[in-house]
Amino acid sequence: MTQLDDSPLLGDAYTNDRQRVFHSWSAQGALDPVVLAGALGSTMWDANGTTWIDFTSQLVNMNLGHQHPRMIEAIKQQAERLCMVAPNFANDQRSEAARLIVEKANLGKDGAPRTGGHFEKVFFTNAGAEAVENAIRLAKAHTGRMKVLSAYRSYHGGTAAAIGLTGEPRRLENEPSIPGLVKFWGPYPYRSAFHAESAEQECERALQHLRDTVVFEGPSKVAAIILESVVGTNGILVPPDGYLEGVRALCDEHGIVMICDEVMAGFGRTGQWFAWQNWGAEPDLIAFAKGVNSGYVPVGGVVISADIAATFDERVFPGGLTYSGHPLACATAVASINIFDDEGVNEHARHLGKDVIGWELCEMASRHPSIGEVRGLGVFWAVELVRDRDTREPMDAATMGAVVAECKANGMWPMMAANRIHVVPPCNTPDDVAREGLAILDAALAIADAALT
Ligand SMILES: Cc1ncc(COP(=O)(O)O)c(C=O)c1O
Repeated sequence: MTQLDDSPLLGDAYTNDRQRVFHSWSAQGALDPVVLAGALGSTMWDANGTTWIDFTSQLVNMNLGHQHPRMIEAIKQQAERLCMVAPNFANDQRSEAARLIVEKANLGKDGAPRTGGHFEKVFFTNAGAEAVENAIRLAKAHTGRMKVLSAYRSYHGGTAAAIGLTGEPRRLENEPSIPGLVKFWGPYPYRSAFHAESAEQECERALQHLRDTVVFEGPSKVAAIILESVVGTNGILVPPDGYLEGVRALCDEHGIVMICDEVMAGFGRTGQWFAWQNWGAEPDLIAFAKGVNSGYVPVGGVVISADIAATFDERVFPGGLTYSGHPLACATAVASINIFDDEGVNEHARHLGKDVIGWELCEMASRHPSIGEVRGLGVFWAVELVRDRDTREPMDAATMGAVVAECKANGMWPMMAANRIHVVPPCNTPDDVAREGLAILDAALAIADAALT
């Protein structure tokens, strides 16, 4: 459990970090990062040997957990074989990764090939934001249209267009973005923008609102609608049954490209290869990253339908990246997908969602009056904390911070987003480890209960 403890650099890591490293999305002055020394499976530790259950998967990324031996082996083997290939060459690992990803995208919920599954090709990127950038680039070039619709309460990445598509405050300091971006409200029954009183009503009204938005923006001007199949950072918002199908029908009616951003929700998080496979609607483009190889090497990409791929048979695609389909990254994607199959990772994620995490969280909600709602599926859950169940006033930041600190002090590293704790451990977390982490959360929620108005 101390494979990095002998690193000669560990002693200076904190000082050098504070002096020389510029961190994401932060005022730099007050940062006080823990120096991680090592990790294994769903556990991580610092140089002093303090351990935590990792309930974050490192930004909802490491679906296979830390230091999976077959992933390490894949990196070693590929490093010895061939470290870099420019995108204009073909390469065995890239070819196999693309073949496997397309194969998985063409499966149905039952795991069997879907009738009419239409995905054909993969464009590889370095990470999620570039996947989103290139998905909308493909959609615009394919349709010859300029506008792209995305949802409030969404995150799509930190690059120019991706942050412009993002429907939360991180966008605001980055505006103006590229032209032609339009926002709409997606479904969120607990805090309905449509005053809906049931999931069915929310679905119907959210679809009517999206239809109205398309009509008033000019259907023939709209290249794409992009949405997170299950909204991640902004609340783990599981769409009501019928919503994705309704978006699909609207896109079909007007020749609009439907893009599912599966950067966070894909590859096992919801117990399916892709979250949209939980329902009946097939998008035209899928943006992916994170879970495709659990971030062992940075990679992302876009899965492209046959129809859109054909647009570029004769026409030049106006985009490209030096590292597109990097062999180290692709070798880990191949290894990861094979591990998922061999170890039943999607099945285990579904089991965790139903029998362990979902069950325990619902039980906690019955005992903790500070829990306004728990929601999620697979290994993708949110516990929304409120100061008052009737008014649904969000829990204050100080209390949220105290709950988080208590979890950490007791050996579980939680993920906090606004007034929510997101329960997102690796998809292959053993039941007893997941239960241990949940028990720590359960105990810490006494702090939130004590803060009720
Ligand atoms: C849904 C979604 N899309 C895009 C991104 C951006 O991915 P990256 O940080 O790899 O660029 C994220 C990151 O969390 C995400 O959750």
